[in-house]
Amino acid sequence: MRSHYCGHLNESSLGQDVELCGWVHRRRDHGGVIFVDLRDREGLVQVVFDPENPETFMTAERVRSEYVLRIKGTVRHRPAGTENPNMATGQIEIACQSLEILNRAEPPPFSVVDAISDESEVNEETRLRYRYIDLRRPQMLQRLRMRAQVTRTLRGFLDAQGFLDVETPILTKSTPEGARDYLVPSRTHPGEFFALPQSPQLFKQLLMMGGLDRYYQIVRCFRDEDLRADRQPEFTQIDIETSFMDEDQIMNLKEDMLRELFAEVLEVALPKPFPRMTYAEAMARFGVDKPDLRIPLELVDIGDLMKNVDFKVFSGAANDPKGRVAALRLPGGGALSRKEIDDYTQFVAIYGAKGLAYIKVNDRAAGREGLQSPILKFIPDDVVEAILARTGAENNDLVFFGADKATVVCESLGALRIKLGHDRGLVEREWRPLWVVDFPMFEWDEKANRWSALHHPFTAPTVNDIEQLEANPGAALSRAYDMVLNGTEAGGGSIRIHRPEMQAAVFRILGIGEEEARDKFGFLLDALTYGCPPHGGIAFGLDRLVMLMSGAQSIRDVMAFPKTQTAACPLTSAPSPVGDTHLRELGIRLRATTTAA
Ligand code: AMO
Ligand code: AMP
Repeated sequence: MRSHYCGHLNESSLGQDVELCGWVHRRRDHGGVIFVDLRDREGLVQVVFDPENPETFMTAERVRSEYVLRIKGTVRHRPAGTENPNMATGQIEIACQSLEILNRAEPPPFSVVDAISDESEVNEETRLRYRYIDLRRPQMLQRLRMRAQVTRTLRGFLDAQGFLDVETPILTKSTPEGARDYLVPSRTHPGEFFALPQSPQLFKQLLMMGGLDRYYQIVRCFRDEDLRADRQPEFTQIDIETSFMDEDQIMNLKEDMLRELFAEVLEVALPKPFPRMTYAEAMARFGVDKPDLRIPLELVDIGDLMKNVDFKVFSGAANDPKGRVAALRLPGGGALSRKEIDDYTQFVAIYGAKGLAYIKVNDRAAGREGLQSPILKFIPDDVVEAILARTGAENNDLVFFGADKATVVCESLGALRIKLGHDRGLVEREWRPLWVVDFPMFEWDEKANRWSALHHPFTAPTVNDIEQLEANPGAALSRAYDMVLNGTEAGGGSIRIHRPEMQAAVFRILGIGEEEARDKFGFLLDALTYGCPPHGGIAFGLDRLVMLMSGAQSIRDVMAFPKTQTAACPLTSAPSPVGDTHLRELGIRLRATTTAA
């Protein structure tokens, strides 16, 4: 139906007769002449309708925004002075000889034209309900195009490295990745359910036991969890597993993959090698296990200085083995107003902090006189001096303090650090990838009163000795690694347990009894006994990678048809009720019946 894409035309096409198809982006009537900006996937071009061609002119008078047109015309130079330097095809226009309206369009619920500049002006629910219109916006198209380029590049890299693309089941059994499962009722086994995979974790391990050696899959995963800007109920992983490689080899290979990806798609050279940091160091310096290294602010421990001060909140936390007292210096923070400090105090309260003490440094040389602080009266001179020295505070700086359980201090000051970075314009415009390693194997779950796996229960500990592991689970480190990019967890993986005795021991520590272990993971335990190679792998969040690379604010903006924050689809109205007959067929009793019973 067409000879060219609108957006591909330029001065080299001058004089050519072309046929184009596309949408009416904008129509302008200019005293006798009609201009239409015609839009297709590749861009816009201006089409001119002259009254001297009355038939096309009269048709052109009827066209409206988003009508679908087919035109024939000649490429000519725009008259001198009317060129548009802001438009890729701004030097030329099409003198239209014939026009066919392929389809009319209702006035769109939001303007494709206006929404280009600022998508935040259109309600997201509306954008999702009319996603097919939203996708016409060049920005959305650009992101999906980048996503396709990302998967193409990754496939190319992995293929060249000998990885085999293998599919794994979607209707399967629960895999524990820490979220709730989406369940699918079985008609042929009434009362029984499939779980949609939270990840292909166990299948990729079984593929290694099957001798495939190097596996990858760009695969959909399903997790019923509380949604955020970087979480969706269904999302895509670049899932990878290898045999006979240790963690250094896996990390090096994945670094190469990301370096190639960024060079290919963004023409960005990522560092070689990526820096590595232990979990303990990340928590100490940044309060989180996914530090954003673009923000040059750090937490500093001062618990040792606060053990004997008169302020109970501080000395209490300093003497509590599970407590932490930390400081966060904000260079130039002396300029913060009382109101701003109050707002930050409310901000950290979201994370459970009971307050946000601070010291403003007006004149470092003037001793106490040069400082402003609600806690100064509790703290002796030498301690104040030691704090200022340790944090490196200078005139016009402000030092914030957190004192509480370590988890509360890490979370609140960690979040404050990021907020201050953004509020105060301190975020460097750079790519700062990072491996976080040496995670604890287990963390104590206070509510459930038992150990839980920090990664997943198939991750190998650094110790090989089962007795040693069971004697002190809290001290064990795992062979897990996370890839963090600009403060987002882009990927995570580990070396797996490949000995059945160790797997059984880890289940025991996690409080998974023998019977439950057999019931849920019997197939894995069996497979481990039939010749399992040492293996390990990783999974990257594709949506998160593309979000970061495209500069989008949410992974919803890099998915064609995402769900809302409440895990619904405004376009199709899923989820939706189903008929009684269907439910009965699936052996599902209706709620009314259940209640009556
Ligand atoms: P993990 O649970 O860390 O590991 O997931 C791997 C990566 O997937 C992305 N991700 C998500 N992206 C969008 N929405 C979500 N709800 C979501 N949840 C996770 C993140 C994360 O880093 N089987 C293991 C991997 C392994 O051990 O090899 C796993 O799934 O970017
Ligand atoms: P108060 O004596 O409660 O007025 O607290 C004095 C100062 O300490 C105030 O600036 C509070 O915000 C701050 N503060 C109170 N509790 C904590 C805490 N747990 N961590 C950090 N600062 C706190």
